[in-house]
Amino acid sequence: MVERLAAQAPRGLTTMLPTEDAAAAPRGLAERCGLPLWQFCLTATDANRFAIKLARAATGRRHIVVCDGCYHGSLDETLIDYAPGTTVPAADAIGMGQDPSLITRAVPFNDLAAVEAALAPGDVACVLAEPALTNFGMVLPRPGFHDGVRRLTRAAGTLLVIDETHTI
Ligand SMILES: Cc1ncc(COP(=O)(O)O)c(C=O)c1O
Repeated sequence: MVERLAAQAPRGLTTMLPTEDAAAAPRGLAERCGLPLWQFCLTATDANRFAIKLARAATGRRHIVVCDGCYHGSLDETLIDYAPGTTVPAADAIGMGQDPSLITRAVPFNDLAAVEAALAPGDVACVLAEPALTNFGMVLPRPGFHDGVRRLTRAAGTLLVIDETHTI
């Protein structure tokens, strides 16, 4: 990194504007991962924000589903706690712009019945979940949980966003 930065410095350094590498990097990712379109961002909060916005735009739906105990960055709609029958602001969330229950449904991790109920109204743009909860101690998925979420989201016309910030 030191060598690369030193080589680039005389030609100008910026983290704001794209360089030629901004075109090369997604081509390499497309070849490796088989997905044609990539969006670059500087934080995982932004990645989740972009993914939620794209999911809303693609589905025409407003709601999202996240898991109790999640942390997906400083997005208001994910700073929530599960409460039976509703979704409340996380205990340590400050400055929330709106009541999160208006757009977010929280479900307990590993609870497929709760996921199914949250998707039932047909208004959920995406489920946003970590493969394992990593910000709430470490909670591993039970066998079949993710397969079930995949199946339920497909059936409901809901997109599935996997946040791999910690799990890579
Ligand atoms: C799963 C997960 N998603 C998103 C974030 C937010 O990351 P960032 O600080 O890059 O916005 C974190 C931060 O720890 C995280 O653990």
